Amino acid sequence: MIIALMGLKGGQGRSTIAARLGAWLARAGHSTCVVDLASTGTATLLLGGVMDGPGSGALLAQKGLDRLVKPTSVPLLSHVPADDALLEIARLPAREPSRTALPALGQRFDVVLLDAPPGAGTTALIALTSAAWVLAPVVPDEAGVAGVEATLRLLRGGLPARPKAGLLGLVVNAVESRRAAHVAGEAALRAAHGRDVLRTTIRRDPAVTTASSLTRVMRSGAPRGADADFRALRSEVLRAIVKRS
Ligand SMILES: Nc1ncnc2c1ncn2[C@@H]1O[C@H](COP(=O)(O)OP(=O)(O)OP(=O)(O)O)[C@@H](O)[C@H]1O
Ligand SMILES: [Mg+2]
Repeated sequence: MIIALMGLKGGQGRSTIAARLGAWLARAGHSTCVVDLASTGTATLLLGGVMDGPGSGALLAQKGLDRLVKPTSVPLLSHVPADDALLEIARLPAREPSRTALPALGQRFDVVLLDAPPGAGTTALIALTSAAWVLAPVVPDEAGVAGVEATLRLLRGGLPARPKAGLLGLVVNAVESRRAAHVAGEAALRAAHGRDVLRTTIRRDPAVTTASSLTRVMRSGAPRGADADFRALRSEVLRAIVKRS
């Protein structure tokens, strides 16, 4: 099962959700692999990895899996770090998913989470066409909400690459309940996009920033703050997949 974290706008929480949701899926017993497809390497950093050799760019060039998949500190959670080859791939036309090693990776793990870069470039389109499902995080401020329509148009088609992915849902992320703009933004999203917005809201939590916190949180039995939300997101995502498959 391959799930892509996608969206046109930057900074909406794709990498954060890929890492945290991945950890919670692993904790529920699902072998999970997070593939960092963004050359900035945020998910790699969050998962305690390093960009020091072949990684996800090599994976997209079908260079095999064994050297590329790395363990993390969380049992059952693996990752493929970003690499510099991603910068080259971004300049090429989108290629067929069958010409990448992503389908093989999908066979090997219960869940593969693709952390796509923002926009609709080659790498994002490969993620879109390789995935069965898409999660699209959105921060419910004015700019985040404004970016949603175009993201949905991208996901719903009209692309040369003809995406096969279904929208699992928009994920309202980094919500500050004391900010009127966020409350209004989330309400507007839910009013306009109803069923396409997952029920789980992830609150903005200052603890959700450093690599070390991922390890710490995964050791704690009773998550607090946003980590309680990521755990709820795990349950909702798993339920939604079963319901729609
Ligand atoms: N729920 C949250 N609580 C607090 N901070 C958050 C939350 N979600 C994301 N952030 C912060 O927002 C910033 C952007 O998040 P992230 O890097 O995950 O977004 P992205 O969509 O992957 O961005 P990019 O466009 O760079 O790929 C980061 O500094 C991250 O720590
Ligand atoms: Mg990112």
